[in-house]
Parts: sequence; C-alpha cells; structure tokens
Amino acid sequence: MSEEELLKWRREFPILEKAVYLISHSLGAMPRDTFSRLNEYAEMWATRGVRAWAEGWWDMPVTVGNDVAGIIGAERETVVMHQNVSICQSLILSCFEPTPKRNKIVYSELNFPSVMYVYEAHAREGKLRIETVPSDDGNTIDLDRFLAAIDEETLLVPFSHVLFKSGFLQNAKAITDRAHEVGAMVVLDAYQSAGTVPFSVKDLNVDFATGGSVKWLCGGPGAGYLYVRPDLHHTLRPKTTGWMAHEEPFAFETDLRYASGIRRFLHGSPAIPALYAAQSGYRIINEIGVERIREKSVRQTTRLIALAEDAGFSVTSPKSAADRGGTITIGHDDAAAITKELIRREFIVDYRPGAGVRISPHFYNTDEELELVIAEMKAIRDTGAYEKAGGAGAAF
Ligand SMILES: Cc1ncc(COP(=O)(O)O)c(C=O)c1O
Repeated sequence: MSEEELLKWRREFPILEKAVYLISHSLGAMPRDTFSRLNEYAEMWATRGVRAWAEGWWDMPVTVGNDVAGIIGAERETVVMHQNVSICQSLILSCFEPTPKRNKIVYSELNFPSVMYVYEAHAREGKLRIETVPSDDGNTIDLDRFLAAIDEETLLVPFSHVLFKSGFLQNAKAITDRAHEVGAMVVLDAYQSAGTVPFSVKDLNVDFATGGSVKWLCGGPGAGYLYVRPDLHHTLRPKTTGWMAHEEPFAFETDLRYASGIRRFLHGSPAIPALYAAQSGYRIINEIGVERIREKSVRQTTRLIALAEDAGFSVTSPKSAADRGGTITIGHDDAAAITKELIRREFIVDYRPGAGVRISPHFYNTDEELELVIAEMKAIRDTGAYEKAGGAGAAF
C-alpha cells in the first residue's frame, strides 16, 4: 500500500479533521465505521432481543478474538476477549499454584504499573516472590540483567513487549527462550506493540499474550484480549472463571467442568458493545497489515527524532529504530506544561513523568503533522507560553 493509499484512510477517522492527533499509544483515533457497528449492536438488541445471544453475541469473545489473532500472528480459536489486560493477568495467574521451589515472578520496574499491582496483590499472601529488575536510565532495561533474573525458581515472567513510558522494544524471543530453558512461562503484554510492531505469538512461542484495543488497534476501551498457547488449553484450570468457561454452560450444573479449548479462559458475560466497537479498527489494521504500518512508523519516528533534535529538544526514547516501538518521547523540565498547552492548541499528545512528551504517529498521520507538532512545541518553549498552562498534565 503506497503512502498515498495509506493517507486515504484519513477520511475514515473523523478526529483527524479537527486535531493533529498523535496519541495512538494511548487512544487511537475512532474509525467512522464504529458509528455503524454500535448502531448494529443497538439494532440487534432492539429487534432480536434475547435471541441475539444465540445469533452471535455468545460466541463474540471467540469470533472477535479471531480478528485479533490475525494481528498478533496467532491461530484461530486461541484468543478470547476480556475487558482489559489487568483482568487477563489475574486470570493467567489464577491458573498456577506456586510451590516453595517455583514461586518467583520476574518483571522489570518499567512494566505497566497495573500489571505489577496484580502480582503484588497476590504476593501479599506470601506464596509468591517478586523480583523486580531495575532500569539504569528509567527508559530501557538491560537484556542480560533481565535474563539473569529468570531462574529455576521462576514461575512467570510478565513483560511488556514495548515499554509504555519510553517506547523501548524488548527482545521477546530472548526472554521467552530463557524462561523456557528454566521451565518458566512468559506473559507477553503486547498492548504497545500489537498494531504497530509486527510479531507472531506463535513464532515467539510465548505461553500467554495479552493486550487491549484502545491504542494502536483503534478499537476503543473494553476489548482486551488473551492468547493462550494451544497445548495449554487442555491442562490449565483457571480459578478466575465463570459459566462461560464451562463445557456446557446451559446445563447449569453445580460443578465446573472446564470447556475444552480456548473457551475455558472465559468467565462471565462478555462486554458485547465494546466488542462491536472494536471490530472496525481490527478490520482496518488487518487490511493494511502491521508490516506496512511499521515501515511507515519507522520512517516517521526517525523523522520526528531529527525534527526534535534540530529544534534543540532531547529525545529520551531509543534512537535506534530496532529498539523502539511506535512512540518517541521528548524530555524537557516543563514537559507536563508544554503538553497541556499543546493539547489546548489541538495537538493531541500526552506526558509521562520521567519520559516527557509522548508522540506517536500512526498510519493515518501526515509528514506535515510531524513538522507542525515540533514547530508548535518549539514556539511554546521559546515564547514561554507553557508557563501559563501550569504543571499538572491532563489525566490521560
Ligand atoms: C503496556 C501496557 N499494558 C497495559 C495497559 C493497560 O492495562 P489495562 O488494559 O488493564 O487498563 C497499558 C495502558 O496504557 C499499557 O501501556
């Protein structure tokens, strides 16, 4: 797909008409088609009523999971939809019983905090130990240090493929191979990579993967996904469970007989509207292909780094394209206030402490928008306009 063809997608994203939208690491732009999908949901409910469950709704966590499978290189029937990553992490952890010999969780201090909260909360019972691998610079994690922390006592390694704060791309293969070498399992958090960095959960041979649709998938909130390696479908018995995980849910038996296959990783009734809303984004990402998105992303993030440095800003995200996802971050003592002023001027970016201003072009952004955002940042800095904006950033 040529650059021109990619930019034709712009008309399918209404917000691009009104703002310079460079925040796809947080909330990707809404596809116009989502209006029709949500209308379809309402029509189905209004006209088919309870029959909607049998006419598609009940199966949606798996059928929609199949759309995500295409993006993350998974086989069909190996992905189910849940609300978010945090619940998926809890569900994964509930499949295991730590023993005194295998009770360690290894992750880095730059993991997404919500993921750490899940493991920390369970560790309070005393059956799990957490080893947190520190970062030297607050933006990257030394691979050898991370690998060295994974040992024979490690149960699970929940790690971010791309770090949310700095966009640093971790070596998922090396981490997975090391974990398997010592009999541990990995949970790949692909939230910041899926849809912008091509990968295959199958080729990486990860045990679990999870992510959501809010960011690069342009799918909106409430549509998290969980991939489980097929050979684990028949052995694991999640304790975070419910009637959708039962082999025959409508038999209403009092004992839980787990479904065979990926359905055993479901729990209660799914968030149907969120699943309708998310499908328009998946369709577009699948149609363009993540390889093509990455090609453009590498070109545009490289250009952004050059523009930012020429304007006298320091870039805190990795300089080498091979080490970063789709985001670049720009450090400045007043980055929070600069961000606030940018947003007031309809340049939609965000701020994270330690990293600075986060900027993420996606397949729908023009090169001109990159120039405009850096020029605006420079003007805000040079005129001191941010001083009026105040320090506290927006809550997103
Ligand atoms: C790497 C990563 N994991 C997880 C999340 C969000 O988790 P949840 O879906 O539980 O809200 C984010 C959101 O910013 C993220 O960047």
